[in-house]
Amino acid sequence: MINPKDIDFYSLGFEFIETRSMFVSNFKNGSWDEGKLMPFGKFEISPAACVLNYGQGIFEGMKALRAKNGEITLFRPEENGKRFNKSAKRMLMPEYDLDKFIKGIKIVVKANEDYIPPHDSGGALYIRPMLFGNGPMLGVAPAKEFKLIIFTAPVGPYFPEGFKGIDLEISKTYTRAAPGGTGSTKTICNYAGTMLPAKEAKSRGFAQILYLDAINLEFIEEVGAANFFGIINGKLATPRKTGTILEGITREAVLELASKNLGLEVEERDISYRELFEESCSEVFCSGTAAVITPIASVSFDGKQRIFNNKKPGTITTKLYEILTGIQRLEIEDKFGWMVLV
Ligand code: PLP
Ligand code: COI
Repeated sequence: MINPKDIDFYSLGFEFIETRSMFVSNFKNGSWDEGKLMPFGKFEISPAACVLNYGQGIFEGMKALRAKNGEITLFRPEENGKRFNKSAKRMLMPEYDLDKFIKGIKIVVKANEDYIPPHDSGGALYIRPMLFGNGPMLGVAPAKEFKLIIFTAPVGPYFPEGFKGIDLEISKTYTRAAPGGTGSTKTICNYAGTMLPAKEAKSRGFAQILYLDAINLEFIEEVGAANFFGIINGKLATPRKTGTILEGITREAVLELASKNLGLEVEERDISYRELFEESCSEVFCSGTAAVITPIASVSFDGKQRIFNNKKPGTITTKLYEILTGIQRLEIEDKFGWMVLV
């Protein structure tokens, strides 16, 4: 474990850095134990564990920030707790009490407080709650024993480009999720399949794939780990919840801020990728806990590229970024009741 005093918090990317403590709770014989804080470290797992063989696992992504006044903040943690349980249900795993979830988050953050990047670094302590079936299985069936772990890592921007804008490639070769599948849950299975498409896109100079719907290969779904938005005909448009996109907590916040703070008309609808190549689409960006609000500088498909705003972040994208991060850093009044102090 690296001493927090030796971390350069001002040049962090999105790499794993071990912190002091993790929270662990086990489910056995039909119930959860109390859960406890432990030193971050390895644990034993059966080679026949359900998560290793059949991918019965889910996770969440959250951040603790250090505000200017020294307070430690969380952004809408109940929403992560609720989504955690929605994912658990879909993967036939036991739910975790919402109050205990938030308590567990606060305990881990407190224990790793000195790993929270300073206010002016722009970094955060990333929080990773996870739940998996660790009981041994042979046939495809849910485990009988489960483990919940909450660990943390100090992070900087998810995309190395930061707030500069990323280049995306629209794919008709790969899709991320299909109707009736698990696209709207944060199951680990949704992510392994995006690694090869991302690697190939990166080899062609793109930051990520912009995924289309699996049926028509026409409507935008999302970026590998962030939700998609476009300013089209002056309105803020985002793909509607079809069950195949991850229903982002930042996505909901962006819709509220755009409508209530900026007075924009917002639309949740099917968005054809072709609309991005028309003049009526003036700005595009993506949102997520890790990605925050990341401007999209260009989208490419079939040898055609649409560059937005000379690759500079658009006006509305910038305003939304400033308001969202201002609220998260307690610099702008939180009229929505989103922020929770640790
Ligand atoms: N889409 C995917 C696939 C994600 O993994 C995430 C990250 O959690 C998001 C979108 C954004 O969701 P949120 O804003 O809740 O972090
Ligand atoms: C997040 O934004 O927290 C995510 O979970 C994305 C991720 C896969 C790094």
